[in-house]
Amino acid sequence: MENNKRPENMERITTKALAEKFIAEQIELIRKQVGKEKVLLALSGGVDSSVVAALLIKSIGKQLTCVHVNHGLMRKGESEQVLAVFRKNLEENLIYIDGTDRFLNKLAGVSDPEEKRKIIGGEFIRVFEEEARKLSDIKFLAQGTIYPDIIESKGVKAHHNVGGLPSDLNFQLVEPLKFLFKDEVRVVGLALGLPDSMVYRQPFPGPGLGVRCTGAITRDRLAALREADAILREEFDKAGLAGKIWQYFTVVPDYRSTGVRDGKRVFDWPVVIRAVNTVDAMSAEVPELDWKLLKKITDRILAEVPGVCRVLYDLSPKAPATIEWE
Ligand code: XMP
Repeated sequence: MENNKRPENMERITTKALAEKFIAEQIELIRKQVGKEKVLLALSGGVDSSVVAALLIKSIGKQLTCVHVNHGLMRKGESEQVLAVFRKNLEENLIYIDGTDRFLNKLAGVSDPEEKRKIIGGEFIRVFEEEARKLSDIKFLAQGTIYPDIIESKGVKAHHNVGGLPSDLNFQLVEPLKFLFKDEVRVVGLALGLPDSMVYRQPFPGPGLGVRCTGAITRDRLAALREADAILREEFDKAGLAGKIWQYFTVVPDYRSTGVRDGKRVFDWPVVIRAVNTVDAMSAEVPELDWKLLKKITDRILAEVPGVCRVLYDLSPKAPATIEWE
C-alpha cells in the first residue's frame, strides 16, 4: 500500500482547535476524493468507525450509506446507541441488519475459540457483502483504519473484517483517520459532537461477547452474560472508574456449579469479573478493586441475572493469562 506513512511534520491532535483544523482539512480532501459519488461504511459502533461516519456526514451528507450489522454479540444497548446517534442524519441511509439468528445459528454447538472467531468474521463479511451488492452504484468504501492498524497489520483493519471483502466489489478506499493514533481519534470525535460514551468506549473485540461466552454459545447463557456485563459497567460508571480502568467486562464460562436458591438446590453458571489496566494490551495488570464495590456488583448479579449462582474476580495478570478468556 502506498502513502501509508504518517507525515513527519504532522502535529499531534491534542486540542479541540487542532481537531477542528484536522476536520476542516479532511472535509476538503474527502469532497475532492469522492466528488458526487456514493460511499459505503461498515459502522460497528466502535470509536473509529463512528468518527469516520460523523466526519463523512459532515463532508458529504447523504452520499454516505452506513451498514450496521448486529451480530447478536453486542453489549446491552450498543446497537441502539449507534442507531440513536446516526439515524437523525442518515435516515434511510443507515441500514440496520439484525443478524442475531443468522450468527447464533451458525455458532450453535461450536466450542473451538478460533473456529468461533472464523465463523463470526466470515459471516460478517458475507452479510456486509450482500448489502453492498444491493447498493449497486457505490464506488467508495470508507474504513476506520487508524495508524496502529497500519503499523501492526499492514493496513488491514483486522477486527472490522472489512479488509477481506472480495475484490470484485472493487471499491476505492476512503480512510480519513489512517494517520491518527487512538487518542487523536477521540479528540476528533469529541470535536465532531459524538457522545462521551461512544468516544471513550472501551476496546471491544470484533467477535464481541462471543469470546466471553466461552465454549459453545447458547442464547440463555449469552443473555446472562449481557445482563451481568451491563451491571458491571453501570456500577463501574457510578464508582467513577469509567475511563480510569482500561478494560472491564464479565465472562460466563460454559460450566455450572451447585448453589441454593429459595431453599432448593440449583446448578447454575458462574460469572467472572475481569478488569485490567494496560498501556498497549501486550501485558496487563489487575487493579485492586474496592471490596465494597465487588460485593455490590456480586449482590446485584446474583439478584438480577437468572441462571447465575456465583461471582468471581479474575486476579490473573497478562501474562500468563490473556485479557479475554478465549
Ligand atoms: P488478549 O485477550 O489477547 O486481548 O490479551 C488483547 C486486547 O485485544 C482485544 N481482543 C480482540 N480485539 N478482535 C479484536 O478486535 C479479537 O478477536 C480480539 N481478541 C482480543 C481484547 O479485548 C484486548 O483489549
